[in-house]
Amino acid sequence: MDWIRIVDARKPVSAGTSCEVRGWVRTRRDSKGGFSFIEVNDGSCLGNLQVVAPSELANYAEQVQKLTAGCSVVIGGKLEASPAKGQATELHANSVRVLGWADPETYPLQKKRHSFEKLREWAHLRPRTNTFGAVMRVRNQICQSIHTFFHEHGFLYTQTPIITASDCEGAGEMFRVTTLDLETLAQSGGPVKYEYDFFDKPAFLTVSGQLEGETFATALGRIYTFGPTFRAENSNTSRHLAEFWMVEPEAAFFDLADDMRLAEDFLKRIFTDCLNHCDEDMQFFNERIQKGVLDQIRSVVERPFGHMTYTEAIEVLENCDAKFDFPVSWGTDLQAEHERFLTEQHVKGPVILTDYPATIKPFYMRVSDDGKTVAAMDVLVPGVGEIIGGSQREERLDVLVRRMAEAGLEEADYWWYLDLRRFGTVPHAGFGLGLERAVQYVTGMANIRDVIPFPRTPGNAEF
Ligand code: 4AD
Ligand code: MG
Repeated sequence: MDWIRIVDARKPVSAGTSCEVRGWVRTRRDSKGGFSFIEVNDGSCLGNLQVVAPSELANYAEQVQKLTAGCSVVIGGKLEASPAKGQATELHANSVRVLGWADPETYPLQKKRHSFEKLREWAHLRPRTNTFGAVMRVRNQICQSIHTFFHEHGFLYTQTPIITASDCEGAGEMFRVTTLDLETLAQSGGPVKYEYDFFDKPAFLTVSGQLEGETFATALGRIYTFGPTFRAENSNTSRHLAEFWMVEPEAAFFDLADDMRLAEDFLKRIFTDCLNHCDEDMQFFNERIQKGVLDQIRSVVERPFGHMTYTEAIEVLENCDAKFDFPVSWGTDLQAEHERFLTEQHVKGPVILTDYPATIKPFYMRVSDDGKTVAAMDVLVPGVGEIIGGSQREERLDVLVRRMAEAGLEEADYWWYLDLRRFGTVPHAGFGLGLERAVQYVTGMANIRDVIPFPRTPGNAEF
Protein backbone atom coordinates (compact mmCIF):
# COMPACT_ATOMS: atom_id res chain seq x y z
CA MET A 1 0.00 0.00 0.00
CA ASP A 2 1.31 3.45 -0.89
CA TRP A 3 2.50 5.63 1.96
CA ILE A 4 1.07 9.11 1.50
CA ARG A 5 1.71 12.28 3.47
CA ILE A 6 -1.23 13.92 5.17
CA VAL A 7 -0.91 17.13 3.15
CA ASP A 8 -1.81 15.04 0.09
CA ALA A 9 -4.24 12.72 1.86
CA ARG A 10 -6.40 15.71 2.83
CA LYS A 11 -6.89 16.87 -0.74
CA PRO A 12 -10.39 16.25 -2.17
CA VAL A 13 -8.92 14.38 -5.14
CA SER A 14 -7.53 11.75 -2.79
CA ALA A 15 -10.96 10.30 -1.98
CA GLY A 16 -11.14 6.66 -3.04
CA THR A 17 -7.41 6.05 -2.64
CA SER A 18 -6.16 3.09 -0.63
CA CYS A 19 -3.11 4.26 1.28
CA GLU A 20 -1.05 4.27 4.44
CA VAL A 21 -0.28 7.29 6.62
CA ARG A 22 2.44 7.54 9.24
CA GLY A 23 2.40 10.06 12.02
CA TRP A 24 1.64 10.93 15.63
CA VAL A 25 -1.71 10.80 17.36
CA ARG A 26 -3.09 14.16 18.46
CA THR A 27 -6.36 12.93 19.98
CA ARG A 28 -8.56 9.88 20.12
CA ARG A 29 -12.21 9.71 20.96
CA ASP A 30 -14.38 6.59 21.00
CA SER A 31 -17.85 6.81 19.55
CA LYS A 32 -20.82 4.86 20.73
CA GLY A 33 -21.34 3.48 17.24
CA GLY A 34 -18.48 0.99 17.62
CA PHE A 35 -15.55 2.93 16.23
CA SER A 36 -12.94 5.49 17.26
CA PHE A 37 -11.92 8.80 15.75
CA ILE A 38 -8.17 9.33 15.75
CA GLU A 39 -6.66 12.66 14.76
CA VAL A 40 -3.24 12.07 13.23
CA ASN A 41 -0.60 14.62 12.22
CA ASP A 42 2.63 13.96 10.35
CA GLY A 43 4.03 17.50 10.15
CA SER A 44 3.47 17.85 6.40
CA CYS A 45 0.69 20.39 7.06
CA LEU A 46 -1.15 22.08 9.86
CA GLY A 47 -4.32 20.04 9.58
CA ASN A 48 -4.77 16.58 11.05
CA LEU A 49 -6.16 13.65 9.16
CA GLN A 50 -9.23 12.19 10.80
CA VAL A 51 -9.02 8.42 10.98
CA VAL A 52 -12.12 6.34 11.54
CA ALA A 53 -11.04 3.09 13.19
CA PRO A 54 -13.78 0.41 13.40
CA SER A 55 -14.09 -1.98 16.34
CA GLU A 56 -13.62 -4.88 13.91
CA LEU A 57 -9.87 -4.16 13.88
CA ALA A 58 -8.03 -7.10 15.45
CA ASN A 59 -6.19 -4.90 17.95
CA TYR A 60 -9.11 -2.52 18.63
CA ALA A 61 -9.58 -3.17 22.34
CA GLU A 62 -5.95 -3.87 23.25
CA GLN A 63 -4.34 -1.06 21.28
CA VAL A 64 -6.55 1.33 19.32
CA GLN A 65 -8.63 2.22 22.34
CA LYS A 66 -5.47 2.86 24.33
CA LEU A 67 -3.99 5.39 21.91
CA THR A 68 -3.21 8.75 23.48
CA ALA A 69 -1.57 12.00 22.34
CA GLY A 70 1.99 11.49 21.11
CA CYS A 71 1.78 7.80 20.14
CA SER A 72 3.34 7.03 16.76
CA VAL A 73 1.22 5.03 14.35
CA VAL A 74 1.11 3.57 10.85
CA ILE A 75 -2.44 3.41 9.59
CA GLY A 76 -3.64 1.71 6.43
CA GLY A 77 -7.06 2.19 4.90
CA LYS A 78 -9.12 3.99 2.30
CA LEU A 79 -9.62 7.74 1.95
CA GLU A 80 -13.27 8.74 1.76
CA ALA A 81 -14.99 12.08 1.34
CA SER A 82 -15.57 13.40 4.85
CA PRO A 83 -18.95 14.59 6.10
CA ALA A 84 -17.19 16.64 8.81
CA LYS A 85 -16.52 20.37 8.44
CA GLY A 86 -13.03 21.63 7.61
CA GLN A 87 -11.68 18.52 5.96
CA ALA A 88 -12.18 17.05 2.50
CA THR A 89 -11.29 13.48 3.34
CA GLU A 90 -10.99 11.06 6.22
CA LEU A 91 -9.25 7.73 6.41
CA HIS A 92 -11.30 4.60 7.04
CA ALA A 93 -8.75 2.34 8.67
CA ASN A 94 -8.32 -1.34 8.02
CA SER A 95 -5.10 -1.58 10.04
CA VAL A 96 -3.60 0.42 12.88
CA ARG A 97 -0.04 -0.38 13.85
CA VAL A 98 1.40 1.27 16.96
CA LEU A 99 5.12 2.02 16.64
CA GLY A 100 5.64 3.82 19.93
CA TRP A 101 3.52 4.53 22.97
CA ALA A 102 3.57 7.85 24.83
CA ASP A 103 2.68 7.56 28.49
CA PRO A 104 -0.12 10.07 29.10
CA GLU A 105 1.07 10.51 32.69
CA THR A 106 4.41 11.89 31.55
CA TYR A 107 3.97 13.12 27.94
CA PRO A 108 4.02 16.91 28.33
CA LEU A 109 1.94 17.91 25.31
CA GLN A 110 -1.53 17.25 26.55
CA LYS A 111 -4.57 18.70 24.87
CA LYS A 112 -4.70 21.84 26.98
CA ARG A 113 -2.90 24.85 25.55
CA HIS A 114 0.51 25.58 26.96
CA SER A 115 2.11 29.01 27.10
CA PHE A 116 5.01 29.68 24.76
CA GLU A 117 7.24 30.16 27.84
CA LYS A 118 6.34 26.68 29.03
CA LEU A 119 6.89 25.19 25.57
CA ARG A 120 10.44 26.62 25.51
CA GLU A 121 11.23 24.19 28.33
CA TRP A 122 10.27 21.41 25.91
CA ALA A 123 12.14 22.72 22.89
CA HIS A 124 12.65 19.10 21.82
CA LEU A 125 8.90 18.40 21.71
CA ARG A 126 7.38 21.74 20.75
CA PRO A 127 7.83 21.07 16.99
CA ARG A 128 4.88 18.70 17.47
CA THR A 129 2.54 21.57 18.33
CA ASN A 130 0.43 23.37 15.74
CA THR A 131 2.16 26.71 16.24
CA PHE A 132 5.72 25.46 15.95
CA GLY A 133 4.91 23.20 13.06
CA ALA A 134 3.48 26.22 11.25
CA VAL A 135 6.44 28.43 12.21
CA MET A 136 8.91 25.87 10.94
CA ARG A 137 7.11 25.46 7.63
CA VAL A 138 7.05 29.24 7.09
CA ARG A 139 10.70 29.49 8.12
CA ASN A 140 11.51 26.78 5.59
CA GLN A 141 9.60 28.64 2.88
CA ILE A 142 11.53 31.84 3.64
CA CYS A 143 14.85 29.98 3.36
CA GLN A 144 13.79 28.51 0.02
CA SER A 145 12.71 31.93 -1.24
CA ILE A 146 16.00 33.49 -0.18
CA HIS A 147 17.97 31.04 -2.30
CA THR A 148 15.58 31.27 -5.25
CA PHE A 149 15.50 35.07 -5.24
CA PHE A 150 19.26 35.47 -5.23
CA HIS A 151 19.77 32.68 -7.72
CA GLU A 152 17.35 34.39 -10.11
CA HIS A 153 19.12 37.73 -9.64
CA GLY A 154 22.56 36.38 -10.47
CA PHE A 155 23.89 36.27 -6.90
CA LEU A 156 26.30 33.46 -6.18
CA TYR A 157 25.81 31.61 -2.89
CA THR A 158 29.08 31.64 -1.00
CA GLN A 159 30.17 30.63 2.48
CA THR A 160 32.11 32.80 4.90
CA PRO A 161 33.89 31.56 8.02
CA ILE A 162 32.17 31.12 11.35
CA ILE A 163 35.47 31.47 13.22
CA THR A 164 37.06 34.83 12.51
CA ALA A 165 39.56 37.30 13.93
CA SER A 166 37.69 40.46 12.93
CA ASP A 167 34.81 42.26 14.62
CA CYS A 168 32.74 43.41 11.66
CA GLU A 169 30.27 45.53 13.58
CA GLY A 170 32.90 46.90 15.98
CA ALA A 171 30.53 46.53 18.89
CA GLY A 172 32.78 44.19 20.89
CA GLU A 173 29.97 41.68 21.24
CA MET A 174 31.95 38.61 20.23
CA PHE A 175 32.14 35.12 21.66
CA ARG A 176 35.77 34.07 22.03
CA VAL A 177 36.78 30.71 20.53
CA THR A 178 39.46 28.81 22.35
CA THR A 179 40.57 25.28 23.16
CA LEU A 180 39.95 23.52 26.39
CA ASP A 181 42.67 21.71 28.25
CA LEU A 182 40.52 18.79 29.32
CA GLU A 183 43.20 17.11 31.42
CA THR A 184 43.77 20.11 33.60
CA LEU A 185 40.06 20.61 33.82
CA ALA A 186 39.47 17.03 34.97
CA GLN A 187 42.22 17.24 37.60
CA SER A 188 41.29 20.56 39.07
CA GLY A 189 37.54 20.29 38.66
CA GLY A 190 37.88 24.03 38.97
CA PRO A 191 37.84 26.91 36.56
CA VAL A 192 38.43 26.20 32.88
CA LYS A 193 42.07 26.57 31.83
CA TYR A 194 43.15 27.45 28.33
CA GLU A 195 46.23 25.64 27.16
CA TYR A 196 47.20 27.68 24.15
CA ASP A 197 45.72 29.89 21.49
CA PHE A 198 44.94 27.45 18.71
CA PHE A 199 44.88 30.20 16.10
CA ASP A 200 47.92 32.10 17.43
CA LYS A 201 45.70 35.13 17.81
CA PRO A 202 42.36 35.78 19.43
CA ALA A 203 39.54 34.23 17.42
CA PHE A 204 35.81 34.72 17.72
CA LEU A 205 32.47 33.48 16.44
CA THR A 206 31.47 35.75 13.58
CA VAL A 207 28.96 38.55 14.09
CA SER A 208 28.56 38.95 10.32
CA GLY A 209 30.01 37.45 7.14
CA GLN A 210 30.09 40.83 5.44
CA LEU A 211 33.80 41.66 5.41
CA GLU A 212 34.70 38.29 3.95
CA GLY A 213 31.68 38.56 1.65
CA GLU A 214 33.10 41.80 0.23
CA THR A 215 36.19 39.91 -0.94
CA PHE A 216 33.99 37.72 -3.12
CA ALA A 217 31.69 40.51 -4.31
CA THR A 218 34.73 42.46 -5.54
CA ALA A 219 35.71 39.45 -7.65
CA LEU A 220 32.52 37.61 -8.58
CA GLY A 221 30.27 40.66 -8.71
CA ARG A 222 27.21 39.52 -6.79
CA ILE A 223 27.25 37.09 -3.89
CA TYR A 224 25.29 36.24 -0.80
CA THR A 225 26.05 34.39 2.38
CA PHE A 226 23.48 32.70 4.57
CA GLY A 227 24.53 31.24 7.86
CA PRO A 228 24.57 31.45 11.63
CA THR A 229 25.96 34.57 13.30
CA PHE A 230 26.62 35.22 16.95
CA ARG A 231 26.31 38.21 19.24
CA ALA A 232 27.26 38.29 22.87
CA GLU A 233 24.94 41.20 23.59
CA ASN A 234 23.41 40.80 26.97
CA SER A 235 19.96 41.87 25.94
CA ASN A 236 16.93 39.94 27.06
CA THR A 237 14.44 41.25 24.54
CA SER A 238 11.84 39.70 22.29
CA ARG A 239 13.97 40.40 19.19
CA HIS A 240 17.53 39.51 20.18
CA LEU A 241 19.24 36.13 20.08
CA ALA A 242 22.84 35.25 20.84
CA GLU A 243 22.80 32.94 17.80
CA PHE A 244 20.74 33.88 14.77
CA TRP A 245 20.75 33.32 11.03
CA MET A 246 21.63 36.12 8.67
CA VAL A 247 21.41 36.46 4.88
CA GLU A 248 23.96 38.89 3.51
CA PRO A 249 24.00 39.87 -0.17
CA GLU A 250 26.91 41.97 -1.38
CA ALA A 251 27.15 43.48 -4.87
CA ALA A 252 29.91 45.27 -6.74
CA PHE A 253 28.95 48.46 -8.62
CA PHE A 254 25.86 48.89 -6.40
CA ASP A 255 25.23 52.19 -4.67
CA LEU A 256 22.82 52.86 -1.81
CA ALA A 257 19.83 53.30 -4.14
CA ASP A 258 20.53 49.93 -5.79
CA ASP A 259 20.90 48.36 -2.36
CA MET A 260 17.54 49.71 -1.19
CA ARG A 261 15.80 48.50 -4.33
CA LEU A 262 17.30 45.06 -3.87
CA ALA A 263 16.20 44.92 -0.23
CA GLU A 264 12.62 45.91 -1.06
CA ASP A 265 12.29 43.49 -4.00
CA PHE A 266 13.82 40.76 -1.86
CA LEU A 267 11.46 41.21 1.09
CA LYS A 268 8.42 41.43 -1.17
CA ARG A 269 9.40 38.22 -2.87
CA ILE A 270 9.71 36.42 0.47
CA PHE A 271 6.34 37.72 1.64
CA THR A 272 4.62 36.84 -1.65
CA ASP A 273 5.99 33.30 -1.53
CA CYS A 274 4.71 32.84 2.03
CA LEU A 275 1.26 34.04 0.96
CA ASN A 276 1.26 31.74 -2.06
CA HIS A 277 2.77 28.61 -0.54
CA CYS A 278 1.86 28.70 3.16
CA ASP A 279 -1.80 29.55 2.93
CA GLU A 280 -3.07 27.22 5.64
CA ASP A 281 -0.31 28.21 8.08
CA MET A 282 -0.78 31.92 7.36
CA GLN A 283 -4.53 31.59 8.04
CA PHE A 284 -3.63 29.99 11.34
CA PHE A 285 -1.33 32.87 12.34
CA ASN A 286 -4.01 35.31 11.31
CA GLU A 287 -6.64 33.66 13.49
CA ARG A 288 -4.61 32.45 16.45
CA ILE A 289 -1.43 34.50 16.77
CA GLN A 290 -1.87 38.02 15.40
CA LYS A 291 -5.21 39.15 14.05
CA GLY A 292 -4.75 40.96 10.76
CA VAL A 293 -1.24 39.70 9.98
CA LEU A 294 -2.43 38.31 6.67
CA ASP A 295 -3.85 41.61 5.45
CA GLN A 296 -0.75 43.37 6.69
CA ILE A 297 1.56 41.17 4.62
CA ARG A 298 -0.77 41.34 1.62
CA SER A 299 -0.84 45.13 1.64
CA VAL A 300 2.92 45.38 2.13
CA VAL A 301 3.67 43.48 -1.08
CA GLU A 302 1.42 45.80 -3.05
CA ARG A 303 2.68 49.18 -1.86
CA PRO A 304 6.10 50.81 -2.12
CA PHE A 305 7.98 50.96 1.20
CA GLY A 306 8.24 54.32 2.92
CA HIS A 307 11.53 56.22 2.66
CA MET A 308 12.94 58.69 5.17
CA THR A 309 16.34 59.99 6.09
CA TYR A 310 17.49 59.59 9.67
CA THR A 311 17.36 63.38 9.98
CA GLU A 312 13.72 63.46 8.88
CA ALA A 313 12.91 60.63 11.29
CA ILE A 314 14.45 62.55 14.20
CA GLU A 315 12.37 65.60 13.32
CA VAL A 316 9.21 63.48 13.34
CA LEU A 317 10.12 61.89 16.66
CA GLU A 318 11.05 65.20 18.28
CA ASN A 319 7.81 66.82 17.23
CA CYS A 320 5.33 64.01 17.89
CA ASP A 321 3.03 63.68 20.90
CA ALA A 322 4.27 60.22 21.93
CA LYS A 323 6.14 59.84 25.22
CA PHE A 324 9.39 57.87 24.89
CA ASP A 325 11.50 56.27 27.61
CA PHE A 326 14.65 57.25 25.73
CA PRO A 327 14.90 60.84 24.54
CA VAL A 328 15.90 61.37 20.91
CA SER A 329 17.98 64.04 19.27
CA TRP A 330 20.20 64.10 16.19
CA GLY A 331 23.10 61.73 16.83
CA THR A 332 21.34 59.25 19.14
CA ASP A 333 20.71 55.68 18.09
CA LEU A 334 17.06 54.81 17.58
CA GLN A 335 15.51 52.54 20.20
CA ALA A 336 12.81 49.95 19.57
CA GLU A 337 10.12 52.37 20.79
CA HIS A 338 11.19 54.94 18.17
CA GLU A 339 11.27 52.39 15.40
CA ARG A 340 7.81 51.22 16.39
CA PHE A 341 6.44 54.73 16.38
CA LEU A 342 7.82 55.42 12.92
CA THR A 343 6.46 52.20 11.40
CA GLU A 344 3.23 51.78 13.33
CA GLN A 345 2.06 55.37 13.84
CA HIS A 346 3.81 57.51 11.26
CA VAL A 347 4.37 55.52 8.05
CA LYS A 348 1.96 52.68 8.95
CA GLY A 349 4.06 50.12 7.14
CA PRO A 350 7.68 49.26 6.37
CA VAL A 351 10.06 52.18 6.06
CA ILE A 352 13.66 52.43 4.87
CA LEU A 353 15.68 54.88 6.94
CA THR A 354 18.85 56.21 5.35
CA ASP A 355 21.79 58.50 5.98
CA TYR A 356 22.54 57.87 9.63
CA PRO A 357 25.17 59.83 11.56
CA ALA A 358 28.63 58.34 10.99
CA THR A 359 29.23 58.29 14.75
CA ILE A 360 26.60 55.60 15.42
CA LYS A 361 27.44 53.31 12.48
CA PRO A 362 30.36 50.93 11.81
CA PHE A 363 33.64 51.96 10.17
CA TYR A 364 32.95 50.33 6.80
CA MET A 365 29.99 52.49 5.78
CA ARG A 366 30.61 55.07 3.05
CA VAL A 367 30.98 58.63 4.32
CA SER A 368 28.67 61.04 2.47
CA ASP A 369 29.65 64.42 1.05
CA ASP A 370 28.36 66.23 4.15
CA GLY A 371 31.10 64.47 6.12
CA LYS A 372 28.62 63.76 8.95
CA THR A 373 26.41 60.99 7.65
CA VAL A 374 27.04 57.61 6.04
CA ALA A 375 25.28 55.85 3.16
CA ALA A 376 23.46 53.49 5.51
CA MET A 377 19.98 52.04 5.31
CA ASP A 378 17.88 50.15 7.81
CA VAL A 379 14.57 48.55 6.90
CA LEU A 380 12.09 48.84 9.76
CA VAL A 381 8.75 47.02 9.94
CA PRO A 382 5.77 47.30 12.30
CA GLY A 383 5.88 45.08 15.36
CA VAL A 384 9.48 44.00 14.93
CA GLY A 385 11.52 47.12 14.15
CA GLU A 386 14.77 46.68 12.24
CA ILE A 387 14.85 43.59 10.06
CA ILE A 388 17.53 44.69 7.61
CA GLY A 389 20.71 46.70 8.16
CA GLY A 390 22.89 47.63 5.22
CA SER A 391 24.98 50.26 3.50
CA GLN A 392 27.11 51.30 0.62
CA ARG A 393 30.67 50.46 1.64
CA GLU A 394 33.58 52.88 1.90
CA GLU A 395 35.63 52.14 -1.23
CA ARG A 396 38.17 55.00 -0.79
CA LEU A 397 41.31 53.75 0.91
CA ASP A 398 42.23 57.02 2.62
CA VAL A 399 38.75 57.61 4.03
CA LEU A 400 38.50 54.02 5.23
CA VAL A 401 41.87 54.21 6.96
CA ARG A 402 40.78 57.39 8.71
CA ARG A 403 37.48 55.84 9.83
CA MET A 404 39.29 52.80 11.18
CA ALA A 405 41.64 54.99 13.20
CA GLU A 406 38.65 56.85 14.62
CA ALA A 407 37.08 53.53 15.58
CA GLY A 408 40.31 52.42 17.27
CA LEU A 409 40.93 49.58 14.82
CA GLU A 410 44.42 48.41 13.87
CA GLU A 411 45.19 48.65 10.16
CA ALA A 412 47.38 45.56 10.49
CA ASP A 413 44.37 43.48 11.55
CA TYR A 414 42.44 44.47 8.42
CA TRP A 415 45.25 44.48 5.84
CA TRP A 416 43.36 42.13 3.55
CA TYR A 417 40.19 44.23 3.77
CA LEU A 418 42.18 47.34 2.87
CA ASP A 419 43.75 45.47 -0.08
CA LEU A 420 40.30 45.39 -1.68
CA ARG A 421 40.61 49.20 -1.85
CA ARG A 422 44.25 49.13 -2.90
CA PHE A 423 43.69 46.88 -5.89
CA GLY A 424 40.89 47.75 -8.29
CA THR A 425 38.50 49.29 -5.79
CA VAL A 426 34.86 49.71 -6.85
CA PRO A 427 31.70 51.11 -5.29
CA HIS A 428 29.79 48.29 -3.66
CA ALA A 429 26.95 47.75 -1.25
CA GLY A 430 25.09 45.07 0.66
CA PHE A 431 22.85 44.32 3.60
CA GLY A 432 22.00 41.76 6.22
CA LEU A 433 18.54 40.35 6.92
CA GLY A 434 17.98 38.67 10.26
CA LEU A 435 16.11 35.49 9.31
CA GLU A 436 14.30 35.18 12.64
CA ARG A 437 13.05 38.76 12.50
CA ALA A 438 11.67 38.08 9.02
CA VAL A 439 9.90 34.98 10.35
CA GLN A 440 8.54 37.02 13.26
CA TYR A 441 7.14 39.64 10.93
CA VAL A 442 5.47 37.18 8.57
CA THR A 443 3.95 35.04 11.33
CA GLY A 444 3.20 37.73 13.91
CA MET A 445 4.98 35.69 16.60
CA ALA A 446 5.74 38.04 19.49
CA ASN A 447 8.97 36.49 20.74
CA ILE A 448 12.03 35.71 18.63
CA ARG A 449 12.74 32.68 20.86
CA ASP A 450 9.69 31.03 19.34
CA VAL A 451 10.74 31.22 15.69
CA ILE A 452 14.11 29.41 15.94
CA PRO A 453 14.37 25.71 16.79
CA PHE A 454 16.73 26.06 19.76
CA PRO A 455 17.01 29.65 20.98
CA ARG A 456 20.29 30.82 22.47
CA THR A 457 19.84 33.71 24.88
CA PRO A 458 21.71 34.87 27.99
CA GLY A 459 21.58 32.04 30.49
CA ASN A 460 20.00 29.55 28.13
CA ALA A 461 21.72 26.82 26.14
CA GLU A 462 19.80 23.87 27.56
CA PHE A 463 19.31 21.82 24.42
O1 4AD B 1 22.40 45.64 11.47
P1 4AD B 1 23.35 44.49 11.61
O2 4AD B 1 24.18 44.45 12.83
O3 4AD B 1 24.23 44.53 10.29
C1 4AD B 1 25.31 43.75 10.00
O4 4AD B 1 25.73 42.85 10.67
C2 4AD B 1 25.89 44.05 8.65
N1 4AD B 1 27.27 43.59 8.64
C3 4AD B 1 25.05 43.39 7.59
C4 4AD B 1 25.55 43.69 6.20
O5 4AD B 1 25.49 44.82 5.77
N2 4AD B 1 26.00 42.67 5.49
O6 4AD B 1 22.54 43.12 11.52
C5 4AD B 1 21.76 42.84 10.39
C6 4AD B 1 20.42 42.27 10.81
C7 4AD B 1 19.57 43.21 11.65
O7 4AD B 1 18.88 44.13 10.85
C8 4AD B 1 18.66 42.25 12.35
O8 4AD B 1 17.60 41.84 11.50
C9 4AD B 1 19.53 41.04 12.57
O9 4AD B 1 20.59 41.13 11.64
N3 4AD B 1 20.09 41.01 13.93
C10 4AD B 1 19.67 40.18 14.89
N4 4AD B 1 18.70 39.25 14.91
C11 4AD B 1 18.51 38.56 16.06
N5 4AD B 1 19.25 38.74 17.18
C12 4AD B 1 20.24 39.67 17.22
N6 4AD B 1 20.97 39.82 18.33
C13 4AD B 1 20.48 40.43 16.03
N7 4AD B 1 21.36 41.41 15.72
C14 4AD B 1 21.11 41.73 14.44
MG1 MG C 1 21.70 47.23 12.50
